Amino acid sequence: PIPTLHREQGELILEDVALTTVAERFGTPVYVYSRAALVSAFEAYRNALQGRPALVCYAVKANSNLGVLSVFAALGAGFDIVSGGELARVIAAGGDPAKVVFSGVGKTRAEMRQALEAGIRCFNVESATELDRLNDVAAQLGMFAPIALRVNPDVDPKTHPYISTGLKSNKFGVAFDEALDLYRRAASLPNLEVSGIACHIGSQLLDPAPMAEAAAKVLGLVDQLAAEGIRLDHIDLGGGLGIRYDDETPPAVADYLAPLLKVFEGRAEELCFEPGRSLVGNAGLLLTRVEYLKPGEEKNFAIVDAAMNDLARPALYDAYHETVAVIERDRSAQSYDVVGPICESGDFLARQRELAIEEGDLIALLSAGAYGMTMSSNYNTRGRAAEVIVDGDKLHLVRQRETIESLFALEQVLS
Ligand code: LLP
Repeated sequence: PIPTLHREQGELILEDVALTTVAERFGTPVYVYSRAALVSAFEAYRNALQGRPALVCYAVKANSNLGVLSVFAALGAGFDIVSGGELARVIAAGGDPAKVVFSGVGKTRAEMRQALEAGIRCFNVESATELDRLNDVAAQLGMFAPIALRVNPDVDPKTHPYISTGLKSNKFGVAFDEALDLYRRAASLPNLEVSGIACHIGSQLLDPAPMAEAAAKVLGLVDQLAAEGIRLDHIDLGGGLGIRYDDETPPAVADYLAPLLKVFEGRAEELCFEPGRSLVGNAGLLLTRVEYLKPGEEKNFAIVDAAMNDLARPALYDAYHETVAVIERDRSAQSYDVVGPICESGDFLARQRELAIEEGDLIALLSAGAYGMTMSSNYNTRGRAAEVIVDGDKLHLVRQRETIESLFALEQVLS
């Protein structure tokens, strides 16, 4: 599924770099991203949106490495953030705050101040009390806060329940029937500037229909607002486009966007999108080394040096990541559960995979560019993996492997 990954003489190569070279230089486990894959994923959006006012705001939560962010910043991307920390990263990576939208149900006063002072494009507000709080913070600073309400279109995105966000039962957004009243309220608050509307129905969407349904609902609301004299300059349709991990068949970016563009055909509002996974997921992999092969009566285990703290998705969502041996061996494949060294049965990265491997071999877990490193932890006092961006035949270490000392540098023994 990674477009710039291929085999040459039995060996896995990302762009022009052999993965064995990455492991030799930086050790394992290591996240490896392809710059060309990042760029082409972004350009798929840009090309599909050509000829109409649009802004692609990369959802930083999917992969917030400064090197990755800097690639998108250089392409003129906007960014979707959910914390003050992510805003700081965007700015450190050279991103333009004027192209930042701020999502999330729990924005603190400090985060609001930080974002106002940075001059972000829009706050995607998710509740009535958040409107009041933001108005208050803006007034204290003598500023005007641009807002969109994140509405909840109550459509079923048909994805994993943990990552569907547009249903009534979710904590996200404001109910569709309450939106009109809330917009009136927002328009009456002196330090808010009503700027747009936002929605996001879920992640790893494979069917474009629910999104088009949501878009049509949103458009209806935009027209109702206009009838009351509340005019919006942008419509933010969120992220969510899925990728291929296994045998899924997600629509191409252009095919996903086409029905949405049709809904808004001829409209002057700028269209914003907040893609995360579809920009980075298949631009990266997690490279790990086999420490032990442990044959068993019922199953065989390949115990590798990466674990659930590095890639939580399999343990958390039972997610599938394609697992390939970096060097093809001339021996018959066997079925393995690929597991980490952490003391939990849930610490698996892949199950029942046919692999022809030996101890010491390298394995690549594919489609790990999104929600991989960003969801990693230090469980079992394991330093986080290094991160590398491959660019043609060049290698950039964009995050050093964490040292053990750094893991408890903020801690204190009792005296
Ligand atoms: N905008 C908002 C408001 C979001 O909540 C999200 C993701 C995105 C944009 C980006 O969605 P994407 O294009 O990446 O689907 N950890 C889970 C995914 C959680 C998604 C949370 N929200 C996973 O590993 O699958």
